[in-house]
Amino acid sequence: MSDLKQSRPKGTQDFVPPDSERRRRAEDRFRHLAEACGYREIITPTFEHTAVFVKSSGETSDIVTKEMYSFKDRAERDLTLRPEGTPGAVRAVLENRLRLPCRLYYVGPCFRYSRPQKGRYREFGQLGVEALGEASPFVDAEVIFLGSAFFASLGIRDCTTQVNSIGCRECRTTHRDALRKYLLDRKDQLCEDCRLRIDRNPLRVFDCKVETCRHAVAGAPTPRQYLCPSCQAHFAGVLAGLDRHGLHYVVNDRLVRGLDYYNRTTFEYISASLGAQDSLGGGGRYDYLLEEFGGPDTPAIGFALGLDRALLAAPVAPAPPRRSLAFVVWLTEAETGAAEKLADRLRADGIPAQVDYDSRKVKGQFRSADAAQAACCIVIGPDELAKGVYSLKDLATGEQREVPSDTISAEVRALFRD
Ligand code: HAM
Repeated sequence: MSDLKQSRPKGTQDFVPPDSERRRRAEDRFRHLAEACGYREIITPTFEHTAVFVKSSGETSDIVTKEMYSFKDRAERDLTLRPEGTPGAVRAVLENRLRLPCRLYYVGPCFRYSRPQKGRYREFGQLGVEALGEASPFVDAEVIFLGSAFFASLGIRDCTTQVNSIGCRECRTTHRDALRKYLLDRKDQLCEDCRLRIDRNPLRVFDCKVETCRHAVAGAPTPRQYLCPSCQAHFAGVLAGLDRHGLHYVVNDRLVRGLDYYNRTTFEYISASLGAQDSLGGGGRYDYLLEEFGGPDTPAIGFALGLDRALLAAPVAPAPPRRSLAFVVWLTEAETGAAEKLADRLRADGIPAQVDYDSRKVKGQFRSADAAQAACCIVIGPDELAKGVYSLKDLATGEQREVPSDTISAEVRALFRD
C-alpha cells in the first residue's frame, strides 16, 4: 500500500467547478482590463535563481528572511519558487532585451511559506502589471486606477485605496536618519524584531503589528515629511491624476510596504471584509530596480493583486442552473457514429458538446446530461435519421420538439442562457 496522504499540502487549495470557472473568469477580466491599457502578457518561470529575489525583495524583508520556498536542485543550484512576480518580470525584461518603455502583465501562482489563515495561503494567485520606462506621476495614477477598476469589476464595494510617497534615495536617507534617532530614543518600547530593524531597515517598524511598537511609532517622523521638492511635486501629480480618474483614495503616511525595492509612490487596496489579511493588492514605484539588476536607469511602477483575496471579497453570483453545453443522446448502437459526427459539427460551430458513449440506455445518457448540467439534449434515433431531424430537449423546461438537422446549431444556441 502506498502511504500517499489523501489531503493536499497545508496552505494550498483545490479549485473544483464551478469555483475554478469563477477564478478563470476573474483572470480573464483582469487580462481584458490590462490589455485595454496597453499591457501585454509576460510569462516567466515559476522558479528563479534565489539571488533574483534576495537582490530585489530585500535581504531584510519578511519574504526573503522567512517565507521563501528555497531548494537546491540536483546540480546544487540555489532556486526559489517565486514569492512574487516583479523580480522575475524585471529579470526577463533585461535578459530578453525588451524595448523600453514596455507595459507587461502577468497572471500566475506565487509561493510564500507563512501560517495559513483566511486569505493567506502558501500557494496563491497574483495578477500583476509592470510599466517599465515611464516616469510620469500620471502613469502612477493610471496604474492605481487600473487595480481599483479590477476590484470594481468583480463587484467589490468595500475596497479602499491607500496611497503614500516614501521619496527618492536622497529624501529616504534624511528620513531614515531622523527615524533611527526617534526609534533609538524609544528602543525599550520596541519588540525584539523592531530593535534589530532600527539599524537594518527602520522603515519596516511602521509595519509591525505588535501593540507597543505601534504605540511607539505613533509620533514618528513619516517619509512624507522629508520629501524633496521633486518628490513632493511627483506625489502632487499622482493625487491630481487620481482626482481626474475620479478615484476616491486615502493618503496613509505610514504605508511603506514590505519590499525593499520601492521608492516614491506606494499604494495598497484594503478590504474591510477580509479580517487580518486585508490587503487585496499593492504596489509602487521601483525606479532603481532595473539598474540594480545591471540594466539601464529605468523608472518603473507596478502592482500585484491577490486573486484569492479578491475572490473572497467579491460577491458570489448565483451560478446559472445550466451550462452552455449540448448533450448528444443516441438511441441504438447504430446511431453512435451519427452522434459523434453531430458533436464534432456543433464544436466546429463553437458549441460545447458531449456524448456519453458508456451508457447504453437513453435514461443513463439523460442522467449524465443532468450531472454535467447541460442545457439541452439532442436525441438521435433511427426515425430522426430517416426524417433528417433531431429531437431537441430543453433540460431547463423539459420541452421537446423536432428541429431540422441543418438549423440545429442555431436552435441550440438559442437555448443557452449565459
Ligand atoms: P505584495 O504586497 O507582497 O506585493 O503582494 C501583493 C498581493 O498579493 C497582496 O496584497 C495580497 O493580496 C496577495 N498576497 C500576498 N501574499 C499572499 C498570501 N500568502 N496568500 C494570499 N494572497 C497573498 C508584491 O508581491 C509586489 N510584487 C507588487 C508589485 C508589483 N509592486 C510593484 N510591482
